[in-house]
Amino acid sequence: MDKITIRYIDLFAGVGGFRYAIQNACMELGIQAECVFTSEIDVECQKVYQENFGDVPHGDITKISEDSIPDHDVLLAGFPCQPFSIIGQMKGFDDTRGTLFFDIARIIKEKRPKAFVLENVKLLVGHNKGQTLKVIQKTLKNLGYHTTHKVLNALNFGLPQKRERIFIVGFREPCSFKWPHGKIPMKPLSSILEKQVDDKYYASEHIRKKRLSKQKPTKEPTIWHENKAGNISAYPYSCALRAGASYNYLLVNGERRLTDREMFRLQGFPEEFKIISCYTQARKQAGNSLPVPMAQAVIKNTVEASCSLLIADYKCKTDKLIVDGQLSLFENERKYGKITQIADSRKIQATISAQ
Ligand SMILES: C[S@@+](CC[C@H](N)C(=O)[O-])C[C@H]1O[C@@H](n2cnc3c(N)ncnc32)[C@H](O)[C@@H]1O
Repeated sequence: MDKITIRYIDLFAGVGGFRYAIQNACMELGIQAECVFTSEIDVECQKVYQENFGDVPHGDITKISEDSIPDHDVLLAGFPCQPFSIIGQMKGFDDTRGTLFFDIARIIKEKRPKAFVLENVKLLVGHNKGQTLKVIQKTLKNLGYHTTHKVLNALNFGLPQKRERIFIVGFREPCSFKWPHGKIPMKPLSSILEKQVDDKYYASEHIRKKRLSKQKPTKEPTIWHENKAGNISAYPYSCALRAGASYNYLLVNGERRLTDREMFRLQGFPEEFKIISCYTQARKQAGNSLPVPMAQAVIKNTVEASCSLLIADYKCKTDKLIVDGQLSLFENERKYGKITQIADSRKIQATISAQ
């Protein structure tokens, strides 16, 4: 029997963190995920994305007409924080014009995906005394979506990185969505760190001495973080990777920079992820990415909540009907119309995996 296929789009795709997350989430649910559109403006990221996933992302989303984007079930967008400064006092959809959030909103308006998952920096919550988030929520509500948001920390999703991010999840139809609580034990830093590291990663003697004057070495590996005030902290996990931070902002044991592979491991990227850019670019790409397991947990619950009816219906109907070729949720919905709410999606997941 053909598996259900979720069609999704990956906006502001970076080097594919969201893509890994949805692929993994759907694999956990026993369904297929098909990427039908991606957009990423940075040429270097586009090359990495193509190398790893085979698709060349479209460029600047502001130049892409919403009606040229294929139909999809789930929209994913880890949009840059640039628009915050402009959303300011504005009140809704039209007023967000000129911001990258507006581009997400116009696509949602035109394509009406079943669900979306947006990701951004934690700062969004308090930006402009909460007004910016309010505008975003109001805009999405006016488009007819039921939304919820939460700040999650990658440390709770198995990664040794303190990275707090806001997720905004929205549904076209009301449904019972639960935020993942994480509680996944943190991988030890030692499992992320490479054993042999080239000399080029080591900080100068001057910097190392300076660090040692403020912090003591530890037996277990730690990552030393210098804050804006020049204070040094040492933890058995990394502070958030940042694309534009100084090269000595994070130092393993106070003496060396993270390698490119270590940075992508800290974001939960798989070992097979091909790093093809120079160190400076790879550092920027990793710093801009999202923590894969954290996004995966959110997407899994989103897909489960928004598609539980169809998954149940699919199981029920395919027992009786011959379904030819790929069955997308849209096609499924058109075929069978509205379906009664099923309360316990866990049972459905179990049924699907057993097939
Ligand atoms: C925070 S990163 C997104 C990370 C990514 N979503 C992931 O899954 O790891 C934001 C990305 O948006 C891209 N971007 C910025 N402006 C854009 C535009 N107008 N059109 C398309 N992509 C854009 C940036 O180059 C950057 O890679």
